[in-house]
Amino acid sequence: MPNHNLSQHLHSWQELPQSTHPYSQHVLVRVDFNVPIKDGQILDDRRIQQATPTIHGLLKKGYRVVLLSHWGRPKNGFEPAYSLKQILPTVQNILQEQVGWIPHEHSLHIPEILQQTPHYRVYLVENVRFHPGETQGNPHLAQHWAQHAFAYVNEAFSASHRKHTSVYHLAQCFPEERRFMGSLFHQEVQAGMQIRNAQKLVVIQGGAKIGDKLNLLKTLFQKAEWILIGGAMANTFLYAKGIPVGRSFVEHTRLTEARQLIHLAGNRLILPIDAIVALPNGQVQALPLQDIPSDGEIIDVGPGTLNRWTQYLEQAREIFWNGPTGKYEDERARTSTQTLARILTLIRAKGVFTMAGGGDTAAALRLVNGEGAMTYISTAGGAMLEFLATGTLPGIQALKKEPYTVHATT
Ligand code: 3PG
Repeated sequence: MPNHNLSQHLHSWQELPQSTHPYSQHVLVRVDFNVPIKDGQILDDRRIQQATPTIHGLLKKGYRVVLLSHWGRPKNGFEPAYSLKQILPTVQNILQEQVGWIPHEHSLHIPEILQQTPHYRVYLVENVRFHPGETQGNPHLAQHWAQHAFAYVNEAFSASHRKHTSVYHLAQCFPEERRFMGSLFHQEVQAGMQIRNAQKLVVIQGGAKIGDKLNLLKTLFQKAEWILIGGAMANTFLYAKGIPVGRSFVEHTRLTEARQLIHLAGNRLILPIDAIVALPNGQVQALPLQDIPSDGEIIDVGPGTLNRWTQYLEQAREIFWNGPTGKYEDERARTSTQTLARILTLIRAKGVFTMAGGGDTAAALRLVNGEGAMTYISTAGGAMLEFLATGTLPGIQALKKEPYTVHATT
């Protein structure tokens, strides 16, 4: 397996020289502040927290920092419900810095705004997706943003699977020695490479759907020593093998792909042998698969499955956990998350690299106070999956300083 280091092909923001005109030059930083918000509350601010070292570092070097981000998927230009203004107080709080606000109507005139408000060192620009050109990939829009900026930093690994203007075309408005990756971006690349270059990988694959992860699953199924399948996804695999799963969710449109994956993985695919089942009378029971009644619903994997999984996990040198293994929002369905967190904490202490990917996995771990089980918890969902499958992303290609070839993963 190739052990190349992609980061060597990218410049890091630390290479930026000290500004010769303190706080008169600005750097555009593409962040991913697409954080989950419910009833006006930010549920997880890790993407903001983890962008902070890069922003503070740039300030220390004497640059003004202009933050560009998307939030949600607005389709019709400016829509107040998608405004990034709702996160401005949190950004100020986390950065411990007054942040200048650049509203949508001024977002193509950044240099003028900076000139009119010399007292700010950091600015947040309104949701870039209010410009239809952002998602269409528009070099003219990129040039508007790039005007008078000294450099570009991509601190949005988690959005770098999108070939969007602020991720891709904007970087290319700058000469290659002025396009940088941020610290979080670097960490994500390093962690992803560790899984891609794994020596003895065990994958815990949960979540509901095969459909949106097919490419990743194919890659992981080829690469991993063992693939432990939980979550609602396991139902589809079991059903595809002719094992009844009661009234549990099954992705009927993906049974052909499930059978192909079963064939690809052979005996490395470890499916549940028992389950925690919610019964119509409101009770919950651990049952072997053959005893699941037709009106029962699987909500978690069972204790026998967890015992079996432990034997495989103990042999791993790298573990990648992607997707919740049970319906963790339901208190009765958290045993697998709790047990895995406990087991992985012990395994990690022996020097095994453990990584969790996807927002739901991180949320499940947080609910059971299990974050210490992981060497690295990615802030990226789709982007990390694409990176693991392909070894690159449009946002990486746009930054690279010399031709970079992706090696085969097997
Ligand atoms: C994410 O949350 O995965 C990124 O911010 C990308 O968002 P998107 O799927 O709306 O492009």
